[in-house]
Amino acid sequence: MPNNIFYTLQKSSFLDQKLQAYADTDYYPFHMPGHKRTDKLTLPNPYSIDITEIDGFDNLHHTEGILKDAQIRAAELFGAKSTFYLINGSTCGILSAISAALPKGGALLMSRNSHKAAYHAAYLRELETIYLLPSLTDFGISGSIPPAHVKQALEEFPQTGCVFLTSPTYDGIVSDIQAIADIVHAHGIPLIVDEAHGAHFMFSKNFPTPALRCGADVVIQSLHKTLPCLTQTALLHVNSKRIDMNLVKRFLSIYQTSSPSYLLMASMEKCIRFMREEGPGQMAEFTQMLRQFYKKAQNLRRLKIFTKDSCAPSDCFDHDFSKILISVGNTGLTGKELYDSLLQAYHLQMEMSSGHYVTALTSMMDRDMGFQRFWAALESIDHKNRSSDSDSSDQLLTTEMIYQIPKPGMSISMAMEQHTELLSLKASTGHISQEYIYLYPPGIPLVAPGEIMTGKLVHTISLCQKQGLSIEGLNDIENQKIKVVKM
Ligand SMILES: Cc1ncc(COP(=O)(O)O)c(C=O)c1O
Repeated sequence: MPNNIFYTLQKSSFLDQKLQAYADTDYYPFHMPGHKRTDKLTLPNPYSIDITEIDGFDNLHHTEGILKDAQIRAAELFGAKSTFYLINGSTCGILSAISAALPKGGALLMSRNSHKAAYHAAYLRELETIYLLPSLTDFGISGSIPPAHVKQALEEFPQTGCVFLTSPTYDGIVSDIQAIADIVHAHGIPLIVDEAHGAHFMFSKNFPTPALRCGADVVIQSLHKTLPCLTQTALLHVNSKRIDMNLVKRFLSIYQTSSPSYLLMASMEKCIRFMREEGPGQMAEFTQMLRQFYKKAQNLRRLKIFTKDSCAPSDCFDHDFSKILISVGNTGLTGKELYDSLLQAYHLQMEMSSGHYVTALTSMMDRDMGFQRFWAALESIDHKNRSSDSDSSDQLLTTEMIYQIPKPGMSISMAMEQHTELLSLKASTGHISQEYIYLYPPGIPLVAPGEIMTGKLVHTISLCQKQGLSIEGLNDIENQKIKVVKM
């Protein structure tokens, strides 16, 4: 079938051609970016508006004209004192915020399930890292960070200079930022919230309260993840004097490219204008679609959809229900099989799969037709697949497995600068790791650089592998060998 678009897609060996062929298919995106490849927002031919810092177009690293005004408009819309455009994603916002909040060698209290950018900031700024463990939900994903744990940690580690949390998580779990901000501020230090997955919150009361309204000092949001904006676009909001604005600017000028794309910045300007004019209305329609979906989902017999109500309130303070988590339940499928089935049989591209669930990321740019196709596919899979004797969630992790943060042998940055040797995991007991080992979900590192490998940890890793859970982070793709600090 040489004329078939799917044939063209398979045969394309150049990225631009393959992307075009893909755009012509009926694959539906339940993944980022939040614009969902719709033509609701358009920009001119990218080549026609791609410029550099020519006269009249300002300079992102020294704004005094059109970009300064754009950032002021963004701050007004999101309710921040100051807002910075990021064209290197939330990644560069996290690096800059942590770097600005602490002196070199300072102490950072951070949630253990933080994005790697927070770990990288600790590496680059030689920080002492102290970890907050999220609770673990019955669904097997990381829950909220309990405010009491923040209080306890700040009393135990009075050297802490800044607290960094992720809310919502990739799975949509939100922590009680208001209560945490009060605790952190009582210690006179700033709270940085990675709200990369929550830029849409402020446009609807049906979603969790945005961190900026809860007293966070710095909030970082990816526009591209949940709003109609091009990939890499994000915002960094500063909302208090607990963080030095000049230092924020200094680090942004280090971590952002010196050639910011005007195409990306135009996309941000357009997205922000769209959200100001149409955001609340679009979010209201989107909420309706989501509510209908969740209502129908109650009829599923084998698949299970995550909801806030299925968790203990202490495990999930709030949940962003635009992130739809579908557990394989007792279909007898694995998360990967469910993901593959949705993709191959129904042309529905999910955001990700894990051992026992798949994630569909939705946004206000989703169309009714997309939700209908999704529902029809789930209903059919739910009917077709056999019941397995045991609910696969029975085999989930025990808290014991992930709540054993190894003892630090040295800081992340010190470990990264050492000579290393490659050992089998079995032989690594007693050695200091130079690598991360993540268990996904819940996305918490079992070990980070500088931490000491233990027999129990090695046993946990092999147990996870036997259960088919996803171990990530090691250089060795077979997950058999680890780089450790040479003794
Ligand atoms: C929780 C979290 N924070 C930050 C980031 C980085 O965001 P960006 O891709 O905009 O750099 C991600 C990326 O997936 C993320 O999941």
